Amino acid sequence: MRWAADVAPMAVLLLGADGRLDYANASARRLAARLDATLDESDALACLLALGTDAEWAMASAQGHSRREVELRAGFTVAVEAFCGSGDNAGLRFLALTDISLRSERERQLQQRHDELERAYRSLSGAQEQLLQSEKMASIGQLAAGVAHEINNPIGYVHSNIGTLRDYMASLFGMIDAYALAMAAPDPAVHRDELRAQREKLDIEFILGDLPQLLEESREGIERVTRIVQDLKEFSHVGRNETMRPSDLIKGLESTLNIVWNDLKYKVKLDKIYSEMPAVECLPSEINQVFMNLLINAGQSITERGTITLACGQENGEAWVSIADSGCGIAEETLGRIFDPFFTTKPIGSGTGLGLAICYRIVEKHHGHIDVQSAVGRGTTFRVVLPIKQPDVADSVA
Ligand SMILES: Nc1ncnc2c1ncn2[C@@H]1O[C@H](COP(=O)(O)OP(=O)(O)O)[C@@H](O)[C@H]1O
Ligand SMILES: [Mg+2]
Repeated sequence: MRWAADVAPMAVLLLGADGRLDYANASARRLAARLDATLDESDALACLLALGTDAEWAMASAQGHSRREVELRAGFTVAVEAFCGSGDNAGLRFLALTDISLRSERERQLQQRHDELERAYRSLSGAQEQLLQSEKMASIGQLAAGVAHEINNPIGYVHSNIGTLRDYMASLFGMIDAYALAMAAPDPAVHRDELRAQREKLDIEFILGDLPQLLEESREGIERVTRIVQDLKEFSHVGRNETMRPSDLIKGLESTLNIVWNDLKYKVKLDKIYSEMPAVECLPSEINQVFMNLLINAGQSITERGTITLACGQENGEAWVSIADSGCGIAEETLGRIFDPFFTTKPIGSGTGLGLAICYRIVEKHHGHIDVQSAVGRGTTFRVVLPIKQPDVADSVA
């Protein structure tokens, strides 16, 4: 019995009936020596014994056993266990002390690793957020050229119209002056031929016919610019703090289409199969980003000439918008990878491989999904499916 106690790795302190130390095993004596080198052994052992407090013994006598962990001033941590015998062993008590510093150290290391991992995870998510943001900026940059062209064109002819209008105005004022002069003469009728000649010289008939047309054309040009700017605003809707709101998906699709149209118009014929759509609860600027990525991909899949078909519908509380192209299609073996970040089959410079990854993330955030159907050489259909009403926060947590 003594032998077993002496070779046991834990410190064992047996108490006599009077509560004094009856026996301490070798581990206990070693622990006592580590506790305080200035104490003599019996005092150090008494200190160890004092780790069994009254509360400890009360619990041990009620339950047979108690356990707590104590950090000692000597710099290590021990598990203190008190045992009270019962039945034949009634009255026997002992304290077992196990040095768990190593374990605590391991826990501390684990905690540290965990903290490091968490920091790394947070900075990675931040980096991903930035990456996605910069992809968005890049695609907007790509479009800016097209949009600038779209805006430049009407601005160009409105500007030239204004030049022409200024000339017309000079002619008309010249004519008015001539009439005023004639009116002021004693006999205006004398000036009739003169006036007619001037009228012909200034081409007043032509001006009168052309002027309303010029004005109308300029008004249309300005309206086009206004619409493009409106669409751009709608598209980019600086929406950091945007909240989900019931939105018209088709309106979003159309204004996004206007923005990318410049890149598509020379090779794409558009078909639209729209039906009645409910307002769909979403973050419109993000959903527009999805439409834009899908439209750009559809456009890029068509090399010569082709068709993009836009359609929408609703069923079972969900609304969907599909964007189908008659382009190159996607091979079966790549279909499973197209949503992976950085997966691209396009040459460096024209594809980042982030477009669909962004779509996926946005649609997932909306509790929806994206379906793809594709046949090589025939074309691809992407279908964005969104719940018309977002689930309650409480529901989605559950
Ligand atoms: N409409 C489509 N037609 C054919 N292939 C497509 C279409 N949309 C996506 N893909 C394929 O999926 C890949 C990933 O698309 P995406 O994430 O938008 O990245 P990127 O367009 O920059 O390559 C593309 O490189 C292409 O191979
Ligand atoms: Mg893309």
